Order: sequence, then structure tokens, then C-alpha cells
Amino acid sequence: MRVRYSCQFIWFDYCARHDVALRVPGAANTVNRRASTRRSTTKLVSDARRLAKELLRGRSEERWRHSRAVAHRASELAITVPETDRPLLVAAAWLHDIGYVKPLRKTGFHPLDGATYLRAKGWSPRLCALVAHHSGARFVPIERGFAPLMAEFEFEDGVVTDALTYADQTVGPGGRRMTVEYRIAEAIARHGPDSPNARARIDRVPYLLAVAERVESRLAEIRSR
Ligand SMILES: [Fe+2]
Repeated sequence: MRVRYSCQFIWFDYCARHDVALRVPGAANTVNRRASTRRSTTKLVSDARRLAKELLRGRSEERWRHSRAVAHRASELAITVPETDRPLLVAAAWLHDIGYVKPLRKTGFHPLDGATYLRAKGWSPRLCALVAHHSGARFVPIERGFAPLMAEFEFEDGVVTDALTYADQTVGPGGRRMTVEYRIAEAIARHGPDSPNARARIDRVPYLLAVAERVESRLAEIRSR
């Protein structure tokens, strides 16, 4: 089971890095159907990677390195989500921070700006909502007055949201791996003790720690099989 998952992650990662789409010559229908599904799922990841690269690389190397590492981390965590949701998770990881890019800024709240941009470009509502709500973002808008705009994106309380948040919360700004506790402290120090992020910590920090506990327990359960 673990070997099959690993091969799939390597496949996602390879396709994303090299923008590969499978080419399978006409054989049995089942094979073609599988190939077609795989083509569309790997295309989602490679499209997401391409857009993230286009928007982030050159504008913010640090943010690009972070997004790349979060996508890689999400690939590793994909075993904790249903197989059909794995490309969605990895694609959302590539795109989760594009809202920091200047031309996309509308509210200045990056999860919301990223999600709004993706929605306007026709990305799926689920992917847009994952970007809008990554890393407990819904606890911050109340402080910043963006709650009605955030409400346009439905919060998905489930394993994909957890995996995306855990991936983001275990990778620092430059792409360095860190614990969730260190990442929370680092972010509060970086944004400042009076920042909306810091003020939202009363609700957001327990949420992030609970996400970490859930994801780590899913990983432990999978590894014990
Ligand atoms: Fe991030």
C-alpha cells in the first residue's frame, strides 16, 4: 500500500516539475480511461505549479521557495486524504500564497485575495475555498472586517483542509521545515504582536494545534498498517 502511494507522489511531483502530460496510445478502454483521469489530475497540479511560478518567482524568491516546499510537503501528506483529492491538495498547496503578490492585492489579506483571483480565473470553487481558508485564515477576517467576503468561500472542515494547513504550518517563509509550534511563534514575531494575525491567535492557535494533532495521528495510523 505504502509503495503504491509513494509511486503516486513521485508521479505528481515529476509531472508538476516537468509539466508532463501522459501520452498513452489507444489500448484497452479501461487503460485509456485511467490515463485520461491521470492526465486531468496531473494537469491540475502542473497548471497550479505553472501559475505559482509565473506569479511568485522573480517577485518573491522567499515566497516561491516556501510555496514549492509546501507543495512538496503536501505531496508527502497526500496519503492522509482520499486518492481522488490528492491532486487538489497539491494544487492548492502550490497556489495558497499567491495572494501576497502585489498585482493580486485587493484587501491586503492574502488568503482572500488569492482565492478571489483564482475564482475570477475559473479555478474550481473547492480549490478557491481551500486557498481562502488555509491555515485557519477564517479566524483573522473578523479582526480585519473581511468576514462577509470570506463567507463567499465555503469552509471545508475535513482532511484536505487539515493536510494543506499542516503542510503550510510545517514550512517556514524560506522553505525550511519546522514544527507547528515554532511556525506559530515565528509568524507572530514576524507580523508583530499587535497584528491581526497575532490578535486572532486566541482562536487560531488552538485550531492549528488541533489540525497538527489530527494529521499526525492520521499519519501514525497509516504507518502502523
Ligand atoms: Fe504559506
